[in-house]
Amino acid sequence: MLELENVTRQFGGLRALNNVNMTAPANRVVGLIGPNGAGKTTLINIISGLDHPTSGTIRFEGRDISHQPPHVISRLGIARTYQNIRLFGEMTALENLLIGQHARGHSTVFGALAFSPGYRAEERRLRDHAHHLLERFNLTHAANTRAGNLPYGDQRRLEMARALASGPKLVLLDEPTAGMNAIETHELGEQIVRLRDDGLTVLVIEHDMNLIAQTCDEVYVLNFGEILTHGTPDAVKHNPLVIESYLGKDE
Ligand SMILES: Nc1ncnc2c1ncn2[C@@H]1O[C@H](COP(=O)(O)OP(=O)(O)OP(=O)(O)O)[C@@H](O)[C@H]1O
Ligand SMILES: [Mg+2]
Repeated sequence: MLELENVTRQFGGLRALNNVNMTAPANRVVGLIGPNGAGKTTLINIISGLDHPTSGTIRFEGRDISHQPPHVISRLGIARTYQNIRLFGEMTALENLLIGQHARGHSTVFGALAFSPGYRAEERRLRDHAHHLLERFNLTHAANTRAGNLPYGDQRRLEMARALASGPKLVLLDEPTAGMNAIETHELGEQIVRLRDDGLTVLVIEHDMNLIAQTCDEVYVLNFGEILTHGTPDAVKHNPLVIESYLGKDE
C-alpha cells in the first residue's frame, strides 16, 4: 500500500531521514518509534506532502507521490493527524469534521451551488457521516462545543475523527495519545484496532510501548534518521539495540 524507498530528507547539514526503506502493507497497523528528534514527524510530513524527500521515492498504491502537494495526496486517500493538535479552535467539533470532509465531497461544503438539490443531498450525507464519527469517538456531547473549549482528551479524539472524515485508506497518526492518561490511551488503542478491522491501513508514531503492543502488527525503530530495526512489537521491545538507544535499561 505504502512504500518508501531510500528516502532521505536533508535540512542543511542535518539528515533528518537517511536512506529510509519502509513498507506499510494494506490493512495493517504499523508502528514507528524512536527517540526525540529521530525524524518521525519528518517522515509523516513527507508522506502527507507537507514536505518532500531530498532523494528517494514514496509510492502509494504503486503511484509515485514523492513530490505531490498535500491536497492531491489527501484526495488519493491519505490522511494524518498532528503531534500538536491542529483543530479550528473557534469552530465547533461538528464544523471541524465537516471541513475535514473536503477531500471526500464532490462539490465543496461551502460551494457556490449551495442551493442545488444535489448539493443539499450531499450536505445531508456529509452531516450524517460527521455525526457518525462524533458518536464513534464518544464526542456526541461535544458536537456544538467550540473545539478550543474541549478537554484535551476530547481534542485528541476529535483530531483523529477529523482525519477520518475525508474517508482515507491510509491514516498517519503522529503521537495520537500524547498527554492522555493510561485509560484514555487504551481506549484510543481500541479505536486504532477498529480502523484496521474496517480495512484501513495505519501508520502510528507512538512512545507508549503498551499502545504499540496493543495495536501494531509490526514496528519500525527510527534512530538519528535511520531505521535501526523492524519487526513484531515483541521482537523490537527485546532487541538490545532498541533498549540501548531508546527504551532504556529499566524497560
Ligand atoms: N523544517 C526543518 N528545518 C530544519 N530542521 C528540521 C526541520 N524539521 C525537523 N528538523 C530537524 O530534523 C530532526 C528530526 O525532527 P522530527 O521532528 O522529525 O523528530 P521526531 O522524531 O518527530 O521527534 P519528537 O519525538 O520530538 O517529535 C530534528 O533534529 C529536527 O530539529
Ligand atoms: Mg515528532
